[in-house]
Amino acid sequence: MYGLVNKAVKELVIEKFGEESWETICTKANFADGDFLSMTPYPDKLTFDLVASASEVLNIPVEDLLFAFGEYWILYTAEQGYGNMLDLAGDTFPKFLKNLNMLHQRVNSLMPDLKPPSFSVRNEKDNYLELVYNSHRTGLIPMLKGLVSGLGKRFDLTVECTHMIEEEGSHIFAIKW
Ligand code: HEM
Repeated sequence: MYGLVNKAVKELVIEKFGEESWETICTKANFADGDFLSMTPYPDKLTFDLVASASEVLNIPVEDLLFAFGEYWILYTAEQGYGNMLDLAGDTFPKFLKNLNMLHQRVNSLMPDLKPPSFSVRNEKDNYLELVYNSHRTGLIPMLKGLVSGLGKRFDLTVECTHMIEEEGSHIFAIKW
C-alpha cells in the first residue's frame, strides 16, 4: 500500500502510545527504517506486519486496531491535503458512500499504482443502505467498519454498520444512521 497508509499507522500509534512504542513495533516487524514516503508504494506485507506487531506490543486485538485506524484515516487524510477530495465526495453521508469509487479514482490519478477497493450501494431506504465492498485484499473488514464510523462522525451521525454476508467474494454491510 502507498506510504500514506503506513504513515497514518505510525502517526496513530505515536499519538496514542508514544514514540517508544512505535520503535518497538518497527523492531518486532523487522522494519529498520521507521519512516515512509507518502507517494511511494510499499508491499502490503509491511503494513500487515506492522499491524500484527502493534497488536502484540500494545496488547490490542488486530480488529480493534484496524477499526481505530479506519476512524483515524478520515481525519488523517483531511489533514494531509486530501480535504478537498473529501469535500467533493459528498455533502451528505449517503452521497459520500455512493462516491467512494469516484474518490479513489481521483486518488488513483495521483497514485498510479493504487489498488483501490471498489464499492456499490443497494437497497437504499430512509436512513438505511447496503454497501457492497470488493477488495484485492483480505482481513480489512474491521477497517471498513472504522471508516464508515469515522465518516458518520464527519457528518455528526451515529452510525450502525454490520457485516451481513459475503456473496461471491463481495462483502455486504448493512448501514443505518
Ligand atoms: C481522501 C480520502 C482517501 C484517500 C486519500 C484514500 C486513499 C487510499 C489508499 C492510498 C489506499 C491504499 C491502497 C493502495 O495503496 O493500493 C486506500 C485503501 C482503502 N480505502 Fe481509501 N482513501 C480515502 C478515503 C476512503 C474512504 C472514505 C473509504 C471508505 C469509507 C475508503 C476505503 C478504503 C479501504 C477499505 C481500503 C483498503 C484497501 C482494500 O480494501 O483493498 N477510503 N485508500
